[in-house]
Amino acid sequence: MRISIIGCGYVGLVTGGCLAAVGHHITCVDSDAERIRALVAGQIPIYEPHLDELISRARSEKRIEFTGDLAASVETSEAIFICVGTPPLENGEADLSSIDAVARVIATESRGSKLVVEKSTVPVRTGEQLCRALEVYGRTGGAKFQVVSNPEFLREGSSVIDFLHPDRIVVGVNEPSAAEKMREIYRPILERNFVCPVHGGPCPPGAAPQFVVTTINSSELIKHACNSFLALKISYANVLADLCERLGADVQEVTRAMGMDPRIGPQFLNAGIGFGGFCFPKDIQAFYRLAERAGEDFALLREAERINKDRIDRFLEKTRRALWVLKGKHIGMLGLAFKANTDDIRFAPALELLRRLLAEGASVRAYDPQAMNKTRAQFPSATYCQDAYQAVEGADAVLLLTEWPEFRELDWRRIHSKMVRPLVLDGRNLLDPRRMREIGFEYHSIGRPDS
Ligand code: UGA
Repeated sequence: MRISIIGCGYVGLVTGGCLAAVGHHITCVDSDAERIRALVAGQIPIYEPHLDELISRARSEKRIEFTGDLAASVETSEAIFICVGTPPLENGEADLSSIDAVARVIATESRGSKLVVEKSTVPVRTGEQLCRALEVYGRTGGAKFQVVSNPEFLREGSSVIDFLHPDRIVVGVNEPSAAEKMREIYRPILERNFVCPVHGGPCPPGAAPQFVVTTINSSELIKHACNSFLALKISYANVLADLCERLGADVQEVTRAMGMDPRIGPQFLNAGIGFGGFCFPKDIQAFYRLAERAGEDFALLREAERINKDRIDRFLEKTRRALWVLKGKHIGMLGLAFKANTDDIRFAPALELLRRLLAEGASVRAYDPQAMNKTRAQFPSATYCQDAYQAVEGADAVLLLTEWPEFRELDWRRIHSKMVRPLVLDGRNLLDPRRMREIGFEYHSIGRPDS
């Protein structure tokens, strides 16, 4: 099928690359001319595992192209996936102006029938507004539109795998024929009969994805409900960790046993310095604002947000307690991205800590496998190092802030020998306290006994 992807951000590129990989012909469109120039020249503007290979293969097989010409691409496509950004406004609600602008062009440039798929994360009832916008602006074109909500559940860092091997594909529709068209688009993924660009040959066995058809309003709600629930789960684990610290228990022992209960499940129970990124913090806010506007007080979510913000204060306090005075201290910072396997630093807890440490007069030497360039642009006064060993040189303390697996594999004896004072504060519970103690570190983590 010929499909337009509107918006070449992270969701648009992953969606476009993956749909091309399963056999569709994709045109990716963006109004940012610089971004399109880079994509046409073969550069992928974000770091996301497998995305580079996926897009370069689709390009060589002539199944993907990039353009700034939205009107022309709309005209030639049967389906249009809207993947534009919906950043938070100052009041926490989602800014839907990009969706509105795209809807107008779709409405005026379309001839014939179009499937318009809303993939951006949007508040409930955006689909209704989209239907109305397409109708009022398209009144002279004679085109027929079917609007579908198709939320994405992609995690940065593993989004290509998530897209190609999902546990469910949710489509919110007004009419059954729209659901059938979506089933057709996703058929290779639903039936698992494409040549997987990630696994090369046969993919690891797993259950076939569920195809879930709902109303548009329910589908929009599902996305917010999932993200907010996961954020709640993390905040729950974080408060549990605080309690463990007070009572002398170990949060990892507690959450491990909790997670064995299939009603709870083991994921998103890792305590640490809190959730960041461009999804959870903004989605949880957009969701309780939406509830508020609908006349419901979703105080549970506001509390989860408060707990999350408090993580930074607590971790800074822990650092201060260990170091006594922060001013003038040399801090080695390992990890800047909001989580591992991404270069994304938006709402990253590490960045907030970096900001506060610099403000208090500490000097910071930082290392992250992917996120240094972006961070340097925001915080030029920190020193950015080529590897972790350089970052810890002469440090009074090392702060471990992103759960990159390679940090676990570092030669921690070597790190010990390079530090002025062997103090590690592990904000992700990545390391083994016993091993750290054996090496001779003073080691603090989250919700586990100090050593
Ligand atoms: C999240 C959701 O997991 C995706 O399903 C959703 O599609 C996406 O938002 C979105 O709305 O686009 P993402 O933001 O990429 O994905 O990252 P997560 O893996 O969910 O992690 C979010 C934050 O929570 C990170 O800062 C991570 O370090 C933190 N986290 C995660 C914890 O602190 N503890 C955990 O146990 C899990």
